Amino acid sequence: MATILRDLSYRYQWLYDSISRVAALTVGGEKRFRTLAFADLEIDPDSKALDLCCGCGQATAFLLERSRHVTGLDASPRSIASAQRNVPDATYVEAFAQDLPFEDASFDLVHTSAALHEMDRDTLKKILWEVHRVLKPGGVFALVDLHRPTNPIFWPGLATFMWLFETETAWKLLETDLAGLMAAIGFSSCDRQLHAGGSLQVVRAYR
Ligand SMILES: C[S@@+](CC[C@H](N)C(=O)[O-])C[C@H]1O[C@@H](n2cnc3c(N)ncnc32)[C@H](O)[C@@H]1O
Repeated sequence: MATILRDLSYRYQWLYDSISRVAALTVGGEKRFRTLAFADLEIDPDSKALDLCCGCGQATAFLLERSRHVTGLDASPRSIASAQRNVPDATYVEAFAQDLPFEDASFDLVHTSAALHEMDRDTLKKILWEVHRVLKPGGVFALVDLHRPTNPIFWPGLATFMWLFETETAWKLLETDLAGLMAAIGFSSCDRQLHAGGSLQVVRAYR
């Protein structure tokens, strides 16, 4: 599964961003898409936020509008270098999300967008455990990612996108109850909201 377009979209940020902008139309545009998981959360400017799997800083920039202390983390040196150029006011760490180089209870908010669908089941669970560990008590994990559409009209678009750009792990995520997994790990008040005919999910859960 996936085509050469996947590699190209990772190599050329303009291609990745163009595809994201088209996908964002399903929820009302780029800004709404980038802030979907945290727009209505109360975020103190002094709170510490982590943008997990930050890519080239696409959501990091919007997090910085809400908090002065934003850390972007990604496993890809190329992404980290781009994020540093695009959003220089954040702090960046090159590391794996399943092995976070932070003390317990370091962050008030952990955010991740369009990334968990890249993880196999074991890695996904490790990441959820790690996020739970680095959140402060009462801190929130807010994510946006793919979901199985509830409106059939959204299936052709999502299936085409997944065929062109995604791998097995993205299809597996459509079968995964993320909120349920988080509850099993110990998160509380796990809540899932669906957007774009159910093809996108926002999940929020508290430590
Ligand atoms: C599809 S991009 C999403 C980027 C950005 N968050 C966004 O909303 O556009 C997925 C990102 O996750 C990163 N990534 C994949 N597996 C990772 C892992 N195990 N640990 C940290 N980053 C990872 C990739 O390098 C890539 O930058």
